[in-house]
Amino acid sequence: MAATTPSTTPDLYAKARGATAEASTSRLQDIAAAVGTPCYVYDADLIRAAYATLDEAFDGYPHAIHYALKANSALAVVRLLQGLGAHADANSLGEVDVALRCGFRPDQIVFTGVGKSAAEIDRAVALGLLAINVESPGELNRIDARAIAQGTTARVALRVNPDIDARSHPHISTGLRSNKFGVPIDEAPALFREMAGRSGLLPVGAHVHIGSQITTLDPLSRAAEAVVALAHSLRDEGIHLQHLDMGGGLGISYDGGPVVNPADYVRALVTATKGSGLKIAIEPGRVLVGPAGVLLTTVVDVKQFPGAKRFVVVDAGMTELMRPALYSAFHRIEPVVLRAGEPGPVDVVGPICESTDAYARDRLLAPVEVDDLLLVRDVGAYGAGMGHTYLRRPLSPEVMVERGDWRVIRRRQTLDELLALETE
Ligand code: LLP
Repeated sequence: MAATTPSTTPDLYAKARGATAEASTSRLQDIAAAVGTPCYVYDADLIRAAYATLDEAFDGYPHAIHYALKANSALAVVRLLQGLGAHADANSLGEVDVALRCGFRPDQIVFTGVGKSAAEIDRAVALGLLAINVESPGELNRIDARAIAQGTTARVALRVNPDIDARSHPHISTGLRSNKFGVPIDEAPALFREMAGRSGLLPVGAHVHIGSQITTLDPLSRAAEAVVALAHSLRDEGIHLQHLDMGGGLGISYDGGPVVNPADYVRALVTATKGSGLKIAIEPGRVLVGPAGVLLTTVVDVKQFPGAKRFVVVDAGMTELMRPALYSAFHRIEPVVLRAGEPGPVDVVGPICESTDAYARDRLLAPVEVDDLLLVRDVGAYGAGMGHTYLRRPLSPEVMVERGDWRVIRRRQTLDELLALETE
């Protein structure tokens, strides 16, 4: 297993907190007072810095950074990344439309998804996307048929499953034969031959994505090497690809522990690929936006009975941030303004009527009182986008902090809006 080096993301936090800690404390208080809690706050500069780290590490090697919209598809976030030169990775027609609305051209968008509907295939073909990442022989047939019906040729990449253990959380690992994603890599040459012979298809790439929140380099390098070897064998048969899409998956340091340095990751991809001369596409989500987001929440109750735990009940729960309930995910939680006193063990829990609705268990937290403001860190990815409205809780607002100023990029949903689709 390759050694890991400490992530650059803690440096980003340090930069974010550093000299401006007091200014950001009062800014977070201002935001909470103006828009209420729960509320997501993103830092545009951290997104810029994360994008630049990846982009510069390619050091001139031909590449495209397809931002995985699923991580956070708020229009302002997507528009920011588009402005930085990113391309897009969409997983639904909704995400394709968000990408188009935010200025991406169709030939900058890859479309991935394990179960694309007929309508999705039809639209993706009609738009002429950079690549539709094909997940199965059946899907290959359906895309071919729709392209022929439309009198066009669809650019396709085959998603291969290399049977590599990403050693991430089982719910977000995708690269094992037992997972539903892609086609086994040993079946790929035959399927590429098939695609090359279809009049409706132009095979342009091979695609691999073995999971998310991957914290060691070794599985990512091995997946890259596997698709490069595939591209070499295809070239020997006269099938010439244009790009290799290495997917996303780079982890961030939620708890301060070691993760892969993003620049090392990019250099490993370039090392694996450069002999082929093929362009590298990557589909990062979390590493670009995860550390840039915090969730502001207010303490609504504190309770403790003799011999029992101390519960800090906050106004955000699994409706706003599902990750702790869904994956037992760890997120740092801190009071925005520290009170004097020793930290003590608490459970930080949400208001939802489910015992899994807890952000932290047996966590050391500085003393807090009702009405105190807390922040939950590293929620820029898979936070607001996975939010939902259980218990008729309207979706939370999102705020972008940029150049010393802030603006609401999504206002809080109203109850009337939430109910607008229904009749009695
Ligand atoms: N490409 C494909 C094909 C994907 O399925 C994903 C994520 C990405 C790229 C972006 O991966 P990233 O760089 O963000 O790891 N909700 C989970 C994560 C699910 C990821 C799904 N696919 C979480 O909160 O951890």
